[in-house]
Amino acid sequence: MFPAQRRQREGARKSVFIRVQNNLMLIDIREESGNDLAAIRDVNKRAFDQDQEANIVDALRLNGAALLSLVATIHGQVVGHIMYSPATVGDVTGAALGPMAVLPQYQRQGIGSKLVEAGNQRLTDAETPFIIVLGHADYYPRFGFKRASTLAMKCEWDVPDEVVMLLILDHTKMQGVSGLVKYRHEFSTVA
Ligand SMILES: CC(C)(COP(=O)(O)OP(=O)(O)OC[C@H]1O[C@@H](n2cnc3c(N)ncnc32)[C@H](O)[C@@H]1OP(=O)(O)O)[C@@H](O)C(=O)NCCC(=O)NCCS
Repeated sequence: MFPAQRRQREGARKSVFIRVQNNLMLIDIREESGNDLAAIRDVNKRAFDQDQEANIVDALRLNGAALLSLVATIHGQVVGHIMYSPATVGDVTGAALGPMAVLPQYQRQGIGSKLVEAGNQRLTDAETPFIIVLGHADYYPRFGFKRASTLAMKCEWDVPDEVVMLLILDHTKMQGVSGLVKYRHEFSTVA
């Protein structure tokens, strides 16, 4: 296989073994397909115990703002999901990570980490300048995210400083860029 073809194939699907509930299981990470939409909704609803994140995912997709949407599957069942959408600071467009969700019975076994690693790698390959995330302050730093305020960045919502984190992927494009990182409107308008 030519290197470019191999890269393309590896980019499309990634399989990793992971210890889940004490059994070694094969997790497939791949882009969502039209057949996954109900399962993705269900994963988000069950992980967040409410509809809002699932509704945001659907609205982003409907409005053509799903920059990247990956699922993690075990034996074909969707057990985890991550979505990225465009986010802007000044005239630079990067990505916002989230919503991201893993079915409750599969949490804390490394599936979320595999989704973040796979998604961030794809955005790096696509030369995305930055990724912003709002989330657990003890989780995202392990992927290189830093508190946004230390990079002179903030988000539009009144949230604790430590939950807003940024990963700079292209330091040249981000040189001198600071200020308010704007998410897609769906995050503010969809309930
Ligand atoms: C957050 C989430 C996607 C992580 O997926 P995961 O497969 O459980 O993640 P991993 O197994 O790779 O990593 C586990 C880490 O996630 C973090 N984490 C998971 N749930 C957490 C919670 N409720 N509070 C704080 N940290 C949490 C911890 O840092 C944990 O590390 P530890 O096990 O060493 O303590 C998943 O737990 C989930 O769906 N939670 C509910 C929805 C949610 O909060 N989504 C993220 C919004 S930013």
